[in-house]
Amino acid sequence: MSCHHHTSASDLASQSNVDTIRQTHISLDLRADFEKEQLIGHAVIKFVVVADKATEICLDTHSLNVKSVRIVDSGEPATFRLSDPHKVFGRALVVEVPGALQGKGSEVTVAIEYETTKAGGAIQWLPPAQTEGKKHPFLFTQCQAIHARSFLPCQDTPGAKTTYAATITTPKALTAIMSALGNGKPSRPPTANTEFPFDGDDWHTFTFEQPVACASYLIALAVGDLGFQETGPRTGVWAEKGVVERAAYEFDAMEAMVNAGEKVCGPYEWGRYDVLCMPGSFPYGGMENPCLTFVTPTLLAGDRSLADVVIHEITHSWTGNLVTNSNWKHFWLNEGWTMFVQRKIMELLHGRQVAELDASLRLKSLRSTVERFGVDHNFTRLCPDLEDVDPDDAFSIVPYEKGFHLLRYLETVVGGPEKFAPFILAYVKEFAFKTLDSNDFKFFFNNYFSSTEGIDAVDWDAWLRGTGMPPVNNEFDQTLAKAVIELKRRWTEEEDVSAKDLDGWTAMQTMYFLDLMQSSDAETCKVSKSGEKLKQMDSLYHFTGSGNAEIRFRWQMLCIGANMEEIIPHVVKLLTEQGRMKFTRPLYRALFGTTMGKEVALSTFLENRSTYHSICAKMVARDLGVGSK
Ligand code: BES
Ligand code: ZN
Repeated sequence: MSCHHHTSASDLASQSNVDTIRQTHISLDLRADFEKEQLIGHAVIKFVVVADKATEICLDTHSLNVKSVRIVDSGEPATFRLSDPHKVFGRALVVEVPGALQGKGSEVTVAIEYETTKAGGAIQWLPPAQTEGKKHPFLFTQCQAIHARSFLPCQDTPGAKTTYAATITTPKALTAIMSALGNGKPSRPPTANTEFPFDGDDWHTFTFEQPVACASYLIALAVGDLGFQETGPRTGVWAEKGVVERAAYEFDAMEAMVNAGEKVCGPYEWGRYDVLCMPGSFPYGGMENPCLTFVTPTLLAGDRSLADVVIHEITHSWTGNLVTNSNWKHFWLNEGWTMFVQRKIMELLHGRQVAELDASLRLKSLRSTVERFGVDHNFTRLCPDLEDVDPDDAFSIVPYEKGFHLLRYLETVVGGPEKFAPFILAYVKEFAFKTLDSNDFKFFFNNYFSSTEGIDAVDWDAWLRGTGMPPVNNEFDQTLAKAVIELKRRWTEEEDVSAKDLDGWTAMQTMYFLDLMQSSDAETCKVSKSGEKLKQMDSLYHFTGSGNAEIRFRWQMLCIGANMEEIIPHVVKLLTEQGRMKFTRPLYRALFGTTMGKEVALSTFLENRSTYHSICAKMVARDLGVGSK
């Protein structure tokens, strides 16, 4: 067949022939069957020919049962075949276009009847026990980077943006929401749909529309016993009913965050911005699904101290969702740009010092990640080689912070924030509704600043293709870091410490303190490897019982490093009540690496494996050397 892996574009094995024919609109009609744990229905996809002619359409699928394919225009059944399955990339669904489509711009619409299966990576079906309310089941999708193909057949590459619409039928007790505009109310009785032979009385149907073309990885669905609370005229919070109020308190600043985003990047193009606070197994901190960011409940610290993750996801409304990397090799254009703009918004809302501390803090984790990979490792490149690589394996902080450092460096080269601010607006405007790669970015930058002196000095090759840490060191404001560094000095030099040490600190300063204590130099280790010292620290600062998951996580990592057995039950608790990979993977890895914790790590994982999201279970299994199921 002529469908092929896009080797030159490093499209992480999109098997679709997007250079010939492209999806322009997807219409989903699905029923969520919680008994079978399947989405059942069809996808109607409209295509436009972008080359001279097209003889077939190739779509990505993974673990889908394709039942029939029909050409909607003629009403005739279509001939189709599925390629052999690839464990990571799935199977290409090849649909023959009868008589071939002649001429650029000609269109064809195809209806695919299908159902999802449990083997797919996109959907997690949660039993009531894994929800806050414990009464109703829940389902959610997580498609980035290449899991959309196990949710719907599509051209699963960010290079092929599409609008979409959907009707989702669920049991009457549940509510469906999507990364699109909807009104949160069941809007039509499902009985009219003859393709679903079920009792209409027990079901209702929700409709959605996403009128802005977006990449397949941004199509998202959640179904559960959901409630909603407004946080402003265009923002609000969705969550299980028992969580809505807490979530609305935590993310109260959302409206102000969107407004600040518009100051930095230009108009907000998506209409609404809502957040859905997920059950604990959600594997990421946040996911920027358009109109409806998904976030982990570990952000609910009770004091709004972790709400800035929402700034990050809001920022993707411009960098990522509107301006999109054309393939995953250039992922830094999504995440590095988002870190950079996120810190501009943090500066507007909390002041420059806070944004600068955030950069220092994450620079430290970039350093440890580069050390863990090794300074020559492909995944430490801003643009790594990704042929035949599972994107879940390549995922790390590198594109985020190395990307941020490149932009920060460029900002310095052109003369500082005042010079760069109009460039941000121009960049978003230029590439809005489009996709780009690093070369397009470089070209646009060089062109925009062509009369600015000094830009020839930028070593693009070192930045984009070099391994290890960024080739240039940026400086950050140390105002908030100072007190932290000073307290660390007092601990390592055994000077007086007291329960008042953290008074007036932000949670971020406390996190930075715990990160500094993680250091491997001999002075620091005298404290951080001593159970006695850590016990003293805990009696002063009460880290074990902190309501802030980032603090608890860092504290537990320290205690594991000091072989403190008394931390184990707390670690097990964190590992069983949530499955965010940022916490879950390092905790398992660290515990597994100790004599005291090896067995506990294994047994905790094996016992809870089925409750984790499949991506998280896959990664931890790999980390611990446990065979796949
Ligand atoms: N888009 C990412 C999450 C993601 C990346 C999911 C790649 C799947 C594949 C999201 O915007 C993100 O980066 N979230 C961060 C939080 C942020 C504050 C750095 C996270 O999940 O920790
Ligand atoms: Zn992000």
